[in-house]
Amino acid sequence: MEQISIDIKGLKKFITNSEIEKYAKLTETFNTALHEKTGSGSEFLGWVDLPNELNNIQDIIDTAKEASKDIEIMVIIGIGGSYLGSKAVIDALSNNFSNYINNPDKTKIIFAGQNISEDYLFELLNFLKSKEWAITVISKSGTTTEPAIAFRILKNELEKRYGKQLAIKKITAITDKSKGALKQLANSEGYKTFTIPDDVGGRYSVLTPVGLFPIAVAGFDISELIKGAQYMHKRTNSDSNYEDNIAKQYAAVRNALYRKGKTIEILVNYNPKLHFIAEWWKQLYGESEGKENKGIFPASVDFTSDLHSMGQYIQEGLRNIFETVISVKNPDNKLKVPQDEMNLDSLNYIAGKRIEDINKMAGIGTSIAHIDGGVPNIKIEIPKINEFYLGQLIYFFEKACGISGYALDVNPFDQPGVEAYKKNMFALLEKPGFEEETKKIKKRLND
Ligand code: PA5
Repeated sequence: MEQISIDIKGLKKFITNSEIEKYAKLTETFNTALHEKTGSGSEFLGWVDLPNELNNIQDIIDTAKEASKDIEIMVIIGIGGSYLGSKAVIDALSNNFSNYINNPDKTKIIFAGQNISEDYLFELLNFLKSKEWAITVISKSGTTTEPAIAFRILKNELEKRYGKQLAIKKITAITDKSKGALKQLANSEGYKTFTIPDDVGGRYSVLTPVGLFPIAVAGFDISELIKGAQYMHKRTNSDSNYEDNIAKQYAAVRNALYRKGKTIEILVNYNPKLHFIAEWWKQLYGESEGKENKGIFPASVDFTSDLHSMGQYIQEGLRNIFETVISVKNPDNKLKVPQDEMNLDSLNYIAGKRIEDINKMAGIGTSIAHIDGGVPNIKIEIPKINEFYLGQLIYFFEKACGISGYALDVNPFDQPGVEAYKKNMFALLEKPGFEEETKKIKKRLND
C-alpha cells in the first residue's frame, strides 16, 4: 500500500544531520510521553488512542442519515476546533463546485457561528428562506459567544419555519456531557445530542462527533477516515522507530529549523481542495505552540495562485521562513492540454500534457527556487485525497504537534491566550459579572 511520506532533502543546505539528530532523540521521549500521559496537559490526551476506541460510530452514521433526510442544507454552527476539522475534510473530499451542483442525494453544508458578521447571518437567513434545512450546533464549552449568537438566531428562524416541535427534531447538539449552556438547552428542549469526550480539546476533536457527524452528514465515509487514523496511530506508536515514524521526523526537523531562526512555517498546497486543511493545521499548531513568547508562526498559501502574490516575499523577503508542501501524488481526474493548430498562445509545447504534470513541474520548480532563495523545504506527499489518507494526515499532524510542542517545552493542550479578547469583549458589552472590567476598559478608551 502507498504511504504518506516526508521528504527532507530540501533542508540539506540549512541544517545538518547532527542538528536534526539532537531533536530526533528528544522525539523518542516525547512520543512516549504522549502515549503514557506523562507530559504537561496530560488530562487532554484522549485523542492519542481515540482512533482505536471508536467502536460505536453506527449511531453517528444513522443519525446523520436521518438528519439529512428531506433537507437540502445542514447548517453547522461552531468555531475554532468545533468547525475547522470537519470543514477541512468536507472541502477536501467535495467537488470544487459542489455548492452549485444540484444533487438531491447530497446534503449541502453551510457553516455559521464562526464569525460575528451581521451581513453573514442576515444573508444566511435570507438564503435559507427558500430551502429545507436543519441545524447541528457544536460547542464543547457550550458557552462560546459566536456560535451561541448564531444558534439563537437560527433556532428562532427554524422554529418560525417548522414550528417548535418539528424544529426540535431538526436540531442536533454536540457538546460536553454535563457542563455548559448548550447542554442545559439541549436537555431541556430534548435535542438529539452527542458528547465530546472530556479529555479531547477542541483542536484535536475532529475524530470525535465534532468532526465525524458533519462529515457523515455531507455523505462521506467516516469509517475509512477512522481506519486511516488507526493506521497512522500504529505507524507512530511509542515503539515505532524514528525512520518509520513520520510524526517524529516532522517534529524534529521543524524544531531544528526553529532553533536556527526559522520562526515562520508556511504550509503550501497545490490543490484548492486543501485550503481548509491548512486552516485547520494553523489552528492546531498556532494554539498548541504559540505561548510563553515562543512558537513557530503557522501560515499558509495556495499555490500556484499565491505565487502571484506571496511568491515574491517567499522568494526574497525576510529569511525567517520555511515551507512544508503537501503534495498529492494522484489527482482524481485526468485532463490534458489540447493541441491548437494556430498556436497563437504558444502553448503547443505542452500540448498533450496532463494539467497535473504541469502543476507538479510548477511545484518542483518553485521548491528549487525557494531553496535557492534561502527557504528550507519539507515535502509531505499523500498518495490521494480520500477518507483513508485524510484520516492518516489528520492523526499525523496531531501526533507531530504534540511531540513538537513538548520539544518546545510548552503545554500543547491548553490555550490560555484566547481568553484575553473575550474578557475585553464581555467588558465592552457590559456582561453581568464583568462590572469592574467594564469600568477599567471604558476608562482606557477615554484616556
Ligand atoms: O481548540 C480550542 O479549544 C478552541 O479553538 C475551541 O475549539 C473554540 O474556541 C470553540 O470552543 P467551543 O467548542 O467550546 O465552543
